[in-house]
Amino acid sequence: MTAIADLFRAPVVVEAAALSLADDDLHPEERAFVQAAVPKRRAEFSTARILARKALAALGGPQVSLVPAPDRSPVWPPGYTGSISHCADYCAVVVARTRDVSSLGLDVEDLRELDPAMQALVLTPGERQWISVQPEMRRRMLPILIFSAKEAYYKCQYPITRGFLDFQDVALAIDWEAGTFAARVLKAGWTAPVACLPGRFRIDDHRVSCGVELTRG
Ligand SMILES: CC(C)(COP(=O)(O)OP(=O)(O)OC[C@H]1O[C@@H](n2cnc3c(N)ncnc32)[C@H](O)[C@@H]1OP(=O)(O)O)[C@@H](O)C(=O)NCCC(=O)NCCS
Repeated sequence: MTAIADLFRAPVVVEAAALSLADDDLHPEERAFVQAAVPKRRAEFSTARILARKALAALGGPQVSLVPAPDRSPVWPPGYTGSISHCADYCAVVVARTRDVSSLGLDVEDLRELDPAMQALVLTPGERQWISVQPEMRRRMLPILIFSAKEAYYKCQYPITRGFLDFQDVALAIDWEAGTFAARVLKAGWTAPVACLPGRFRIDDHRVSCGVELTRG
């Protein structure tokens, strides 16, 4: 949790846990929303809601239902913002007050090699070129890092722009030693400050985690 909190400069609360099926802990509206889903999805959804309410409580926030918007984006109570990510057996949630930060994006991925078809989808020609000149040992994990960083960027920008972006619309510049990156939109129509946001990443033996934040202007 501390490692994920370190991805952000704003005062945030992070809660993380293994996935568990916890339908009974959902609010009725949430249970209705997810009841037809497969058990894996219900576990993701319920774990995320339990963690998000814990984080909201730590910030003095209300214990509200957290039913997603029709476009699947999370809906936070007024005065709060956050981001949710789940991977194979793990879920992490970050929440903050909107008086401290405008938007947050969190993505956690199991550390793995991204398959060639996904690499073709995710990596821009510039990113492929950059990867090809990186030290051999780190090259295999860079595609999943770039994937995760773009997902974190997307989740941070979406509540502000409500705009869709393809992987090829976003270019990543990574500073490996610093554990930071900048995500820059290549597509027309995205303006400052959202068009280029800084992020941080951490890689451990199991997962890569990326955080992006839009600070208050
Ligand atoms: C949202 C998205 C980025 C990641 O979702 P995912 O692959 O299911 O991965 P994660 O488990 O890490 O994240 C799921 C959480 O993302 C959040 N989310 C979904 N849509 C979102 C959006 N538009 N904006 C912000 N957060 C969103 C939800 O809280 C969700 O958790 P929940 O279903 O329990 O509420 C992806 O599904 C998506 O919509 N992609 C389309 C755009 C894209 O990927 N472009 C390339 C990157 S630039």
